[in-house]
Amino acid sequence: MNINGKRYRTIWPDPGNSSAVFIIDQRRLPHEFIIEQLSSLEQSIAAIKDMHVRGAGLIGATAAFGMYLASLQAPDHNFSDFMMKSADRLNRCRPTARNLKWATERILRAMAKADQPEEKRTIAFLTACAIADEDAEFCRRLGDFGLEIIREISKKKGGKTVNILTHCNAGWLAFVDYGSATAPIYAARDAGIDIHVWVDETRPWNQGAKLTAWELQQENIASTLITDNAGGHLMQHDLVDLVLVGTDRTTHTGDVANKIGTYLKALAARDNNIPFYVALPSSTFDWTLDKGVEIPIEQRSGEEVTSISGADEKGRIVTIQLTAPGTRAANYSFDVTPARLVTGLITERGIVKAEREEIHRLFPECGVLLE
Ligand code: MRU
Repeated sequence: MNINGKRYRTIWPDPGNSSAVFIIDQRRLPHEFIIEQLSSLEQSIAAIKDMHVRGAGLIGATAAFGMYLASLQAPDHNFSDFMMKSADRLNRCRPTARNLKWATERILRAMAKADQPEEKRTIAFLTACAIADEDAEFCRRLGDFGLEIIREISKKKGGKTVNILTHCNAGWLAFVDYGSATAPIYAARDAGIDIHVWVDETRPWNQGAKLTAWELQQENIASTLITDNAGGHLMQHDLVDLVLVGTDRTTHTGDVANKIGTYLKALAARDNNIPFYVALPSSTFDWTLDKGVEIPIEQRSGEEVTSISGADEKGRIVTIQLTAPGTRAANYSFDVTPARLVTGLITERGIVKAEREEIHRLFPECGVLLE
C-alpha cells in the first residue's frame, strides 16, 4: 500500500539488524504514522495483545516473527521446551484469531525438521518471511477472484457506481498487504470500475473509522463513513449492492467469525436480497471446529466501550470518558455469521459456497488433517 507515495508492508524484517522486525503502530493511526521495532518475544506478545498490530493475517505474521525472535532468546539446552511455551503464550494473545495458532504451529513444524538450535533459528526466520510473503500473495489473488463479483454487479447496473458495504478493517492493515475484503475493491478500482464504499465505524475500537476510511483515502477510493447501525437502512433504500467483509476464523463448515456486528449486517443483507461475501486466505480456516458457535469469542475490557479516543486540537491522541463513572460495560469483540447467510467465500483458490463439501473440495489437503 502507498502512504504518501511510499510503498509499505505492515511488517518487515529490519534490514540493519537480523534480531528485529518493524511494524506500524496501528493504535496511533490515522493521526500519527509510527514505525515500531520489535526485538523480543515479549514485545511481540504485547504488540498483538495490545493491538499495535491487529487483523487476521497480520496477527499471524507477527506471531511467526515473534516465534523467530523467541528462537533467538531460547537457550540451546532447553530449546524445544522454550519454543513450545513461546507458541502457547502467543496463541493466548487473541483467542478468536485463527491465524495465530496456524502461524505458530507452522513455525514449530518447520523447525522440527532440523536438529541443531542454530539451524532451527534460521528455519524460523525463513518460515516467518514465507508466511508474510504468502499472506500478501494470497490476498492479491483473492482480489482477482473478488473482482469478478464486482464486475458482474457493475455490468448489471450498466456501469453505474457499485456500492459496497464493509465492516471493521479487513484491509491492507489487517494483513501483510492488499487486505482481504479490500483486495477486490483495489482490483475493481484498477479495472476502472466505478465503486463507492460504505465504511462501518466499528465501535468500540473504531477500526472502520480510523483505519479503513484512512486506507481507502490513501488509495483514492470514494468512501463514506457510517454508524454501525446505518447498514440496514441503506440496504432498504437500494444503496448497497454488495456486503464484503473479512473474517478472523471460519469453520470448515462455513460459519464465519468476524468483528462484532457482522452477523447483523448479514441478516439485513439476506432480508434485502443483497449478496454477502466473506474474503479470506485459507490460513483463516479452522479445520477442527464444526460449529461456529464453538469458536471462542474474545472479550475485551469494558473501558473500550465506556471511553473513546481520538486526536485533540493539537493533534495529541487522547482518551475521554463517554459514560457516567461506574457504568458497567460488556465488550464482545466478535460474532458468528452462520454459513446459511453467507453468499460465498472468496479464497486464494477461487470463490466457494460456505458449505463443508465445497470448502473441502477446494482445499482437499486440509480436510485430510481431520481424518
Ligand atoms: O480486533 P481486530 O481489529 O483484530 O479484528 C479483526 C478485524 O479487523 C476484523 O474482524 C476483520 O474484519 C477480520 S480480520 C481481516
